[in-house]
Amino acid sequence: MNKNAVTGAAATEKKVSVAVLVSGNGTNLQALLDAERAGRLAQASIKLVISDRPGAYALERAKQAGKPAMLIEPNRSIPRDERRLDLSNRILAAVQNTGVELIVLAGFLSILQGPILEYYRGRIINIHPSLLPKFGGPGMYGERVHQAVLEAGEMVSGCTVHIVDQGTDTGPILLQRTVPILPQDTPDSLANRIHSEEHIAIVDGVIELVTRLGYTT
Ligand code: GRF
Repeated sequence: MNKNAVTGAAATEKKVSVAVLVSGNGTNLQALLDAERAGRLAQASIKLVISDRPGAYALERAKQAGKPAMLIEPNRSIPRDERRLDLSNRILAAVQNTGVELIVLAGFLSILQGPILEYYRGRIINIHPSLLPKFGGPGMYGERVHQAVLEAGEMVSGCTVHIVDQGTDTGPILLQRTVPILPQDTPDSLANRIHSEEHIAIVDGVIELVTRLGYTT
């Protein structure tokens, strides 16, 4: 028999190894961990959590869930314009060593660059707290996004899960969830409402990617 053929029980047991990259609190990571534990993450299995910031509470969440967690920090002793590529290459080495197949950026604030984008082309997703292509791009993160949305007088906002390409927040959109903007909204209140939707979107995004790539249950 062809040793590459995957049939029957072996096919249904095959899990897709996922790395989740984080920088902060990690509530989106938590949504993924909870979904996996509840059997709601399709074939995906979180194999590794990487933070680019020490003290990110997301690292604690990973540990509590029994997932391997790593800190891979930007190297501030090298020139600024080389730092992004250096960080990306060290992350690439870590995910390759762990046999990671898909990468989820869940509140990851560094920008990936170079070979990792080629190696994992079409297999990295990001969640962004606006309805892209609106209110995305360099510098558009955190409160700034919601401030800009309110200043623009938008009636709706939301979140987007998209495939990561060479640009910032520019890759093909996998899915979006919308929320209304209320007259009394502040950047904080809007951020909170969107955050709840993100926790659904990030799980759905991983399932969508796994399905699109042909991993079946
Ligand atoms: C989210 O709003 C996400 O869209 C953005 O960073 C935030 C991360 O939140 N990119 P958390 O750390 O998952 O709670």
